[in-house]
Amino acid sequence: MKIQIAAKPLTEIKDGFLVLPVFEDEKQDYGISLVKNYLADNPKFGKLFEGQILYSDNSKILLIGAGKKEKLDFVSLQNLAGAAVRKLLKKSKSLSLVLPKAGKLSEEEKTYAAALGIEIAAFDPTADFKFKHEPSTLTQVELLVDRAERGLMEGLKKGQIIAESINLTRKLGDLPANIMTPSYFLEVAKKVAKDNKLKITILDEKQTKKKGMGAFSGVAQGSEEPSFMIALEYTGDIKNKDKWAFVGKGITFDTGGLSIKPSGGMHEMKYDMTGAAAVMTAIVAVAKLNLKTNVVAVMAVTENLPGGRAQRPGDIVKTYSGKFAEIMDTDAEGRLVLIDAVSYAQKDFKANKVIDLATLTGAIIVSLGDHITGVFGNRNEFTKNFMEVSRKYGEKVWELPMYDEFDEMIKSQMADIANIGHGGSHRSAAGSITGAKFIEAGVEEGTEWIHLDIAGTAWDMKPKPYRGVGATGVGVKTLVELIS
Ligand code: BES
Ligand code: ZN
Ligand code: ZN
Repeated sequence: MKIQIAAKPLTEIKDGFLVLPVFEDEKQDYGISLVKNYLADNPKFGKLFEGQILYSDNSKILLIGAGKKEKLDFVSLQNLAGAAVRKLLKKSKSLSLVLPKAGKLSEEEKTYAAALGIEIAAFDPTADFKFKHEPSTLTQVELLVDRAERGLMEGLKKGQIIAESINLTRKLGDLPANIMTPSYFLEVAKKVAKDNKLKITILDEKQTKKKGMGAFSGVAQGSEEPSFMIALEYTGDIKNKDKWAFVGKGITFDTGGLSIKPSGGMHEMKYDMTGAAAVMTAIVAVAKLNLKTNVVAVMAVTENLPGGRAQRPGDIVKTYSGKFAEIMDTDAEGRLVLIDAVSYAQKDFKANKVIDLATLTGAIIVSLGDHITGVFGNRNEFTKNFMEVSRKYGEKVWELPMYDEFDEMIKSQMADIANIGHGGSHRSAAGSITGAKFIEAGVEEGTEWIHLDIAGTAWDMKPKPYRGVGATGVGVKTLVELIS
């Protein structure tokens, strides 16, 4: 989308739609009688995302509800801009959106939020897969501000860069697993590495096995498709000793393996690689923004299939951490590929601040539903800081406890750790926490670590006023903001 910033009187908007935010509780006077009359007749207009198109001889106007004035924040502004775009996607070639005057946001944060919302709203996951695809007509957006200062462009640019990453995660997530194979994922990783001057390291199946990544290899062995452990590195601050790692679960399709899943919702398991896609696109945004920091993105990419070579329940594998893991359920494969990926980030890339993203457990959906990401951590300050950033930028999170009692639940009789929890009074007692505990078994002494269970938030098949269906790109915005 072409997005520009302009400071000009509303009367100068001749072509395209003029989009005017309207608060529920306090109506701004835009000096346009058409608008004034409409709002006089409809004093209740203004609920968030409510829309009304008004036409006169020489103007086209979209009123967009902005909710309660004092509630306007980064997220509501982002989504407000998105809702306006979605209402006009196929109705107009251009629109001019007046940025609302309210709240504590700086003007730069406003252009940042708006740019994110606009790009996310314009993304259409069906573009490549409909015989008669009806493309949107909207190609230009103008943000109307009081004064076009320099900082506003910075905000706009940042929003577009991060939105591009979010939309790439969405695109990769929506791709069906017959296209989005581990090899396809690798090709994308190679391309983004080249385009953004990131160092790429690729371990194929032979190499992961030889290196001792038995947990990852055990999952990968069931599939005919080649599997890869991929690392992308960005060095933006040589003097800094801190090294971040973003680690992503990249199961391009999760059938459950021999502990096979019921077929009902299995098609959605194409989204089981969105953690890996998110960390890949997040590091791309970090590079494009030239952030002063050092990061490695590690992606554990494979299918989880049943078959003659698939691993069995009862198998014991040696993880890259050195600990032995007993496979009690081949469908709990995310923690298996991640424990090795997390070790890889620490051992081979010296990462000391590790954040992993994974569609790890159905249990997190039982706990938190579809809109909240589960957070697990080993250091209070680090976790608190992460949660503050994610709240500010509108990715909802909730922390779950990691008490020692849960360690007991993943002890194995035959090996060190078991890949599902046991000993609770319900079959899946604390299912998300025991998953996190398993990954934590690969976290070393001095490492600050956070695990994000995005199983509920990584995709959304209900369209929103500000976003179409499919993968959401959850995590990208917070990772980039946290690191900046
Ligand atoms: N990828 C799934 C988790 C999942 C389920 C994500 C539903 C999104 C929606 C994961 O690999 C899995 O199958 N987990 C099992 C763990 C269990 C066997 C301990 C689960 O959640 O049932
Ligand atoms: Zn699984
Ligand atoms: Zn899975």
